[in-house]
Amino acid sequence: MEPFYLPIKWVHMTAVMLSGSIFFLRGLGVIAGQRWPLQTWLRYTSFGIDTVLLTAALLLVVLLPHAMFANGWLNAKLILLVVYIVLGMFALRSARSQHVRILCFVAAVLVFASMVSIAHAHDPWAPVRWAVG
Ligand code: HEM
Repeated sequence: MEPFYLPIKWVHMTAVMLSGSIFFLRGLGVIAGQRWPLQTWLRYTSFGIDTVLLTAALLLVVLLPHAMFANGWLNAKLILLVVYIVLGMFALRSARSQHVRILCFVAAVLVFASMVSIAHAHDPWAPVRWAVG
């Protein structure tokens, strides 16, 4: 096995954990009407962590054999990543009402959890299987 695989995967997973936790806390803060979640230093920290996350992810894609993605789990994750980013933008900034903000926040957290379960199982249908038991 490629010697850098495990360290890079560790970096990816650590960045995933940090990115998800920061988004979760910022989302709760925005819903509670706080101003700290939108402070510039926090936005840049978040951006930096997401850059590390994506860089490690791209390295993993290059390192791993193509056959590993044959069932489409990586494509499913990428589609959900776009959905997560859009929902996250609405939850933290663009939503016009508190109701829409909360809906977008809850949906973003669910989409994030779906990406984790897809990555863990290497199965694009992992969240559906989990939901239907
Ligand atoms: C917020 C977005 C993302 C989340 C939540 C996420 C989550 C995860 C998790 C939890 C793992 C570890 C799975 C395990 O072995 O238990 C993982 C691995 C991986 N992720 Fe991501 N990821 C994200 C974005 C991406 C992106 C954008 C890509 C591709 C461009 C990607 C490619 C990979 C690859 C190739 C692996 C390695 C799978 C393996 O070695 O078994 N990830 N991801």
